[in-house]
Amino acid sequence: MDAEPRIVSLELGARSYDIVIGGGLLARSGELIVHSLGKAQCAIVTDVNVAGFHLDALLDGLGDACPRRGVITLRPGEATKSFAELATLCQGLLELGIERGDLVIAFGGGVVGDIAGFAASILRRGVRCVQIPASLLAQVDSSVGGKTGINTPQGKNLIGSFTQPRLVLADSDVLKTLPERQFRAGYAEIVKYGLLGDVEFFSWLEKSWRDIFSGGPARAQAIEKCCRAKAAIVAEDERETGRRALLNLGHTFGHALEAYAGYSDRLLHGEAIAIGMALAFEFSNELGLCGGPDAGRAIAHLKAAGLPTEIGQIPGGAPDVDELLALIAQDKKVQAGVAAFILVRGIGEAFIERGVDMEKLQDFLVRKASGK
Ligand code: GLY
Repeated sequence: MDAEPRIVSLELGARSYDIVIGGGLLARSGELIVHSLGKAQCAIVTDVNVAGFHLDALLDGLGDACPRRGVITLRPGEATKSFAELATLCQGLLELGIERGDLVIAFGGGVVGDIAGFAASILRRGVRCVQIPASLLAQVDSSVGGKTGINTPQGKNLIGSFTQPRLVLADSDVLKTLPERQFRAGYAEIVKYGLLGDVEFFSWLEKSWRDIFSGGPARAQAIEKCCRAKAAIVAEDERETGRRALLNLGHTFGHALEAYAGYSDRLLHGEAIAIGMALAFEFSNELGLCGGPDAGRAIAHLKAAGLPTEIGQIPGGAPDVDELLALIAQDKKVQAGVAAFILVRGIGEAFIERGVDMEKLQDFLVRKASGK
């Protein structure tokens, strides 16, 4: 018998929704959807890996909550978040007869959640979306908060919308089939919450990360903690006009590295974010903003958990720094041509810096790209 699920509410007035966290949720998905949203026709968008392990369990769990169901199965991997795949997905949803009152169920990791959430947000000018995240990264971050989108050669997630899901069901059992590399990459986003604003949580992670990896009680605790932190930030700043940008700690560097790696398996999103967070701490230290011991402690924990922390760890050679700087200049946080960086004064003390000296940044990246 599964323990009662943990419920985190994201408060956004009429658009508020619950994030339900716990074991056995696929089996209860129909009941949970009907409780929040009533019965509806639905289309499930998933990827071949998740479908292979868990689609039957979801279909069983939905029961008659979603009477006319269609399934669209995408290729796994960041390259799926493209205009071409979005067009095919939208047409597929229309061919399934998905109407305004119906549901799109995004059942997968961050890639599926982002592209299916975006398709739902533009299909017939907006169809309701339920997120059923199937990776650690999606459970602690991308399924919550309403960011949806696709990538372009110019950069990551540059096309998209803020459209909140109506319900998030984070079933911890689904993580049992997640490849270890994917789990580790998702852990980088958990560490991010400690590093950006909660030194106590970071200290707890230093003690508890092995239990999180092995599926002990700390795992659900960590997922809940991250969802609560994110829900509080999104409730305050849904459209990222201020504090929500802190959730991008490591992302300005990380997104540029992902684009450089061609959104491929060479570098998973969470791995790029781990390197990006290490760079944010090192750069903050070089600028005299953050003490060396805090930077060293942050990087030591990422390394202990087996995450990459250096540009040179990206397989296939170091990127060209001019190319990285051009990608950074395309970041979504750019205003009047000036990129914003999330820098740190210490562990748990991230802040938004719009006045970064680009020459210092270039010098820093040249050294980092050459392994110094
Ligand atoms: N992943 C960062 C955010 O949702 O704002």
